[in-house]
Amino acid sequence: MATVYCTATSLDGFIADDDESLSWLFTTPGATDNAPGDTAPEGAGPELHFDRFFENVGAIVCGVNTFEWVRRDLTKDGRPFVWPYELPTWIVTHRSLEPVDGVEYFAGDVADLHPRLVEAADGKDVWIVGGGDLAGQFADPGLLDRVWVHQCAVVLGAGRPLLPRRLRLHREKLEVNGQFTAMVFRVVGTEPRDSSQPAPPED
Ligand SMILES: NC(=O)c1ccc[n+]([C@@H]2O[C@H](COP(=O)([O-])OP(=O)(O)OC[C@H]3O[C@@H](n4cnc5c(N)ncnc54)[C@H](OP(=O)(O)O)[C@@H]3O)[C@@H](O)[C@H]2O)c1
Repeated sequence: MATVYCTATSLDGFIADDDESLSWLFTTPGATDNAPGDTAPEGAGPELHFDRFFENVGAIVCGVNTFEWVRRDLTKDGRPFVWPYELPTWIVTHRSLEPVDGVEYFAGDVADLHPRLVEAADGKDVWIVGGGDLAGQFADPGLLDRVWVHQCAVVLGAGRPLLPRRLRLHREKLEVNGQFTAMVFRVVGTEPRDSSQPAPPED
C-alpha cells in the first residue's frame, strides 16, 4: 500500500494551463495514436499506463477545483453529475457543497484524513488526484510515498503547478508511450537549500 500522486504534466511542470484547460493533454498522442509508419520509441510499453496504476487504487483524495473541473466536464452535455470512480473518495474543500453519491467532503489537516484513506483503501494504494498543493500537503508530514507522472511533450509557460514543494525524488521506473514519458518516483524527502547561499528574505 502506498500514497501516490498520479497526474499528467507538461514538460515545464503544469497540470492545467492558465485557463484551467487540459486540451494540451487530450491532444497528446499515446503510442497507439502514432501516425502510420511511426515506430514506437525504444522502451515503449504498457506497464506505466494509467489503467495499470488504477487497478491498484483503493481510495481517492481530490482537491475541490479538480472536482469542479470533472463536474463541469461530465455535465457539459446536460447529463446529471455522477462521480466517475466507484471507490471511496474524499474531496478536500472549505465550501458547502451539495452531497454527491460516493463522495465525502473534508476540510483541515490532511494528516488527520490519511488514516481514513488508508483504511478505506484496504491494502491498496491511495490516489492523490491533485492539485499539486494537495499532494504537497501530504508530502509535508512525510505521507507522500510516490509521484507517478505522465509527462506530455508540451510546454505551457504558465498554469497550475505540478508539486509546489522542494522535494528530492528517486526515479524508479521510466517508460515511453508515444509523446508521453511515464515516470514513477519514490519520495526521498525535503530537498534542502544550498546552505552556502544567503537565505531568501522572509516576507
Ligand atoms: N493534468 C492532470 O492530470 C490533472 C490532475 C489533477 C488536476 N488537474 C487540474 O488542475 C486544476 C486544479 O488544481 P488546483 O491547484 O487549483 O487544486 P485543487 O487541489 O483541485 O483545489 C485546491 C482547492 O482545494 C481546497 N483545499 C485544498 N486543500 C484543502 C484542505 N486541506 N482542506 C480544505 N480544503 C482544501 C481549497 O479550496 P476551498 O478553500 O475553496 O475549498 C483549494 O483552493 C484543475 O484545472 C484540474 O482539472 C489536472
